[in-house]
Amino acid sequence: MAAGTVTATELRAPEGFWRRTWAVIDERLGLSGLAYPVPAHANGIGYILGGISFFGFLILAATGVWLAQFYHPDPGGARESIAYVMNVAPFGDVVRGVHFWVANLVMATVLLHMGRVFVTGSYKRPREANWLIGVGLLGITLGLIFTGSVLKWDQEGYEALQHNIEVANLLGAFGFWFSPEFAATLPIIGRLYMAHVVILPALGTLLLIAHFLLVKRHGISPLPAVADAAVEGGPAPEKGGSTFAAHVIRMTGFGLLILAGTALLSLVWGAPLGDRPNPAIEVTKPWWMFLPFYPFEDWFGLSALLWAPAILIGGLILVPFVDRSPWRSPARRKRIVAVFAIVVIALVALAIYALVTPPAAHVMEAAG
Ligand code: HEM
Repeated sequence: MAAGTVTATELRAPEGFWRRTWAVIDERLGLSGLAYPVPAHANGIGYILGGISFFGFLILAATGVWLAQFYHPDPGGARESIAYVMNVAPFGDVVRGVHFWVANLVMATVLLHMGRVFVTGSYKRPREANWLIGVGLLGITLGLIFTGSVLKWDQEGYEALQHNIEVANLLGAFGFWFSPEFAATLPIIGRLYMAHVVILPALGTLLLIAHFLLVKRHGISPLPAVADAAVEGGPAPEKGGSTFAAHVIRMTGFGLLILAGTALLSLVWGAPLGDRPNPAIEVTKPWWMFLPFYPFEDWFGLSALLWAPAILIGGLILVPFVDRSPWRSPARRKRIVAVFAIVVIALVALAIYALVTPPAAHVMEAAG
């Protein structure tokens, strides 16, 4: 029989059917190309946090499209349209709950991913540029959460917007886009909505494409001890052990778990919606990721909202340029790891302090 000819038994066999179906699909889509080798440690939890964050963004995009069918970006109707989503729209309360919880989770996994990259020294040559792209992605994640929190137009969202406007004033001419005066034709909530659903996702997608292309180009960084041994003349780090396809399957598994977990959570504990905004009071605190900056506002006034994050972001940008030794293991990078630990502990302590102290009127105080 000629090579490649399919026998009658094979034609009937289910495995033969599935094998041929796969071959037909693969010939056209090249899916088996995704089974390229990656090191086994890429599937460990520390090295899959970026992938989990990515899956989280996919869930946010899907649930966000559903919410956008009902949301009305106007000061007169925004909060009411969200109440409609929660009480009337099909699956609205669960979809909104998943959007809310996944946003919080993605923030946590992005921070943990950055922490892993830092502790394992994976920002070092040749991955410095990807660290900087990551800092951009961190900014976009924070921007998405900030704009999202304003959109619900309750007391907390309204107060967040007042902070946004104060920062615009502090930035002077550079703050024009953040100022309500920029467009007399559209309330600022309309532009923040556009930032939330178009500008930030588009920028984020571009940065993610660059991020992933560079991960593919450089490969995932070797484990620190292995990388250090190679610097000392030991064996080169392994390139195989697993495949990218296995990595994607694992990432999808974690992603689906998150989806199921947040859907269950939403049934018990839905996303909050506060009272209609009352411009005469200032009583709320920001979301947890912004809390570390809240005490600075108490101590130094609203200008701290500019310089405190700027120092932090500036410090992150400098990391690959300051730590230039070839070593990856934290034990060989004690000084920079200690600085990182101190900054993390300080940020957590500031957030806890902000949580337990009574809310203060920062914007109204500045205006008065
Ligand atoms: C929107 C958020 C982000 C997503 C979805 C994302 C996604 C990913 C993915 C999938 C990888 C491959 C390996 C892994 O998962 O660890 C990766 C690697 C990397 N990421 Fe991110 N990332 C994000 C944010 C960041 C941030 C905030 C930083 C640092 C400031 C960063 C720096 C890096 C670096 C340097 C690598 C290469 C690490 C290595 O080879 O070990 N990323 N990222």
